[in-house]
Amino acid sequence: MSNAFNTPYLIHNAATKTKAYEELETSVRALLTGETDAIANLANVAALLYLTLPELNWVGFYRLAPESNELVLGPFQGKPACVRIAIGRAVCGTAAARRESVLVKNVHEFPGHIVCDSASNSEIVVPLIATAGPRAGELVGVLDLDSPILERFDDIDLKGLEKIVAVLISSTVWH
Ligand code: SME
Repeated sequence: MSNAFNTPYLIHNAATKTKAYEELETSVRALLTGETDAIANLANVAALLYLTLPELNWVGFYRLAPESNELVLGPFQGKPACVRIAIGRAVCGTAAARRESVLVKNVHEFPGHIVCDSASNSEIVVPLIATAGPRAGELVGVLDLDSPILERFDDIDLKGLEKIVAVLISSTVWH
């Protein structure tokens, strides 16, 4: 799929990459307009990110199950994955516990990293925290992206993905 990220020098060109994220954020906003269902929005964002961002082998969401206080696999693209992750465990559980993004340049050096796809070498996880509705202020899930490339993600990815998550959060009703 052709998009603003399909530029060979993109990873090394900060301005071009930042601009590509701005365009992607606009696409996410358009994709979610008029729909507030959580499963539908998570599924569409996972699909759009997987089709748009280069060098990924897995993109998806884990949702917080309030009854068991653990992360449960949600909509995703990529190989079948580990279903339940305890808060505080692995990369996803660490981002959930800290309520902040975690960028892992080499997953093999991250204590407790869970291998869902042996192709993964780097990873980034962004927490989803509701800002309105019955769960305002609560963690509702995490966005997880995996790449076969070492050091695939940088601060531009982190900032760009956090903005996309903010659009997703404000477009969706979290029950
Ligand atoms: N690697 C993640 C687990 C989820 S899979 O990558 C899809 C982690 O360590 O939290």
